[in-house]
Amino acid sequence: MSSVANRFLDLVAPGVQALQPYLPGKPVAELEREYGISNAIKLASNENPFGPGPLALAAAREVLQDLSRYPEGSAWLLAGKLAGKHQLARDCVTLGNGSNDVLDIIARVFLTPAHEAVFSQYAFAVYPIAVQALGAKARIAPAHDGSRGPAYGHDLDAMNDLVGPDTRLVFIANPNNPTGTWLESAALETFISNLPAHVMVVVDEAYFEYVDKPSYPDTSTWLECYPNLIVTRTFSKAYGLAGLRVGYALSHPDVASLLNRVRQPFNVNMVAQAAAVAALDDVEHLQRSIARNREGMEQLVSGFRKLGLAYIESAGNFVAVNVERGLECYEALLQQGIIVRPVANYGMPEYLRVTVGRADENARLLAALERVLA
Ligand SMILES: Cc1ncc(COP(=O)(O)O)c(C=O)c1O
Repeated sequence: MSSVANRFLDLVAPGVQALQPYLPGKPVAELEREYGISNAIKLASNENPFGPGPLALAAAREVLQDLSRYPEGSAWLLAGKLAGKHQLARDCVTLGNGSNDVLDIIARVFLTPAHEAVFSQYAFAVYPIAVQALGAKARIAPAHDGSRGPAYGHDLDAMNDLVGPDTRLVFIANPNNPTGTWLESAALETFISNLPAHVMVVVDEAYFEYVDKPSYPDTSTWLECYPNLIVTRTFSKAYGLAGLRVGYALSHPDVASLLNRVRQPFNVNMVAQAAAVAALDDVEHLQRSIARNREGMEQLVSGFRKLGLAYIESAGNFVAVNVERGLECYEALLQQGIIVRPVANYGMPEYLRVTVGRADENARLLAALERVLA
């Protein structure tokens, strides 16, 4: 291509040129194609290994005949059901095409090139992308080194130190991906209550349902007290609907009104809306997924201990394990038909992030790890 044809590169919006694209987990079909193998397993994207629940599947099938119609732009049923679940008014809810969409909408509402967003080292990779795409400045607080709080976890004091007059957003992942670290109620509430009024705080609770830790807060119950708080959740994890892309934000109605102005009118498709409504009723599938995740996490971490591998204690459905040379180990596991997630792009080259799978998948991963690390 001629350089004249490439002159559009000079026109790119500030921030976009230098963006590092999000690196998704490798799809099973791609690995099988590349290596000419079958029976590959993927423990790389923190999906629910037990699939969607039967009620969600039945509801999804039922709406297929209506696909020539646009979905309801307001997602009336789903928004109402979520409002009921959280004991909030319907106008506190903003729906997204996954919670990534919601995070992006929030960034677009509050950030400009003159503004800053604060988040932690090792925080979820979508925050820097959403911030930088707008030409806004990311201020990254060093994570705990283990001396005053859990190593790799968000250091709220360090984050507070970076809040200044130009800060408009703070992103907090609780628990965080890829570290699995979490924040307790008192520390998080103190941090939020001390933020100046010109700063919005996003608490990303993508793994909320999985967490079983003392003093872990449900920040959706704090919305009455903090009008600058936005809580995000998703159907992609414990609800098992990652492929359908449904997430949501809960906030003060005035904030939701702003978010909904930027939101694309039909961002949650018809099948996703129907399945998510049904998934909220399928308490059995949710509870079973959570219980099996707990067993699977125990299986993985006790396996790591037996192999002499250090790991970061995680509150989610994944765990970061120290294998010393993460990329090498990742490649070796691919050869064994197992996809995990290297996290060198997070500045954690010694680690691999492993999603908790079914018992047979966890056992296969542990056996393969033992072979490749021997
Ligand atoms: C911390 C965190 N937030 C948000 C998301 C986005 O999930 P989704 O867009 O599927 O709702 C993820 C997905 O991995 C995540 O780990």
